[in-house]
Amino acid sequence: MRKPMMAANWKMNKTSEEALQFARDFLRMSPPVSEVDVVIFPPFTAIYPLSRALDKTGVHLGAQNMYYETCGAFTGEISGGMLAAEGVTYVIIGHSERRHILGESDAVIAKKIQAALESGLTPVLCVGETLQEREAGDAAAVVVRQLKAALWGLGGDLPLVVAYEPVWAIGTGKTASDADAQEMAALIRNELASITTAAERTRILYGGSVKPDNVAMFLQARDIDGALVGGASLDPHAFYRLSMAAKSQASI
Ligand code: 13P
Repeated sequence: MRKPMMAANWKMNKTSEEALQFARDFLRMSPPVSEVDVVIFPPFTAIYPLSRALDKTGVHLGAQNMYYETCGAFTGEISGGMLAAEGVTYVIIGHSERRHILGESDAVIAKKIQAALESGLTPVLCVGETLQEREAGDAAAVVVRQLKAALWGLGGDLPLVVAYEPVWAIGTGKTASDADAQEMAALIRNELASITTAAERTRILYGGSVKPDNVAMFLQARDIDGALVGGASLDPHAFYRLSMAAKSQASI
């Protein structure tokens, strides 16, 4: 049985004061932290204050990115070790905005996955096709390529979360159908089985325009274990409803 995960990717939103206000409002509602791994991925500037605010609450702290070197002359970068020292336990690697806006390659993503694991962080590896790739019938091939490239050289019992986020569904209000999302999640799990002994235990999330009103259809899918949520996670009430939806799925 895989524990569901509900993950808030705040992207470049919220000052540290706004993040603390969110934490106060969200914690007041008693989120279902024993049944669901609830994770918040704030911008770097809010990690330190949130690590204090979330301490011993059961809500996990994540980072949206990291660099693959451990220290040194890399202006503007942050290492996995620095994140772990602040209480971060998950790190998003290979988000489509980093791939497509910031030009991150499969090779860089592979190095980051390796470095995250070496720092004791659990990577949340994002994969997903563009609209052009889907329309060309290449969605499955793209996702398999991204997965294999990111996990190249790794094996054994990998602590890993994979998020399937079709690029065309991110921030657009369009979602994959539940059948398409399940098909891609099953493909990902099948591919993972040839890489890691932990494939059956690996959580696979869906991401892309997830809202409290549509999350249930993804959570019901056999191979989908939660969601990675952008826009809707900025509101504590919406994120609470999303977390509760994951809890009700956990009890089925
Ligand atoms: P939206 O939920 O805003 O579509 O963003 C999805 C996403 O990119 C999460 O990482």
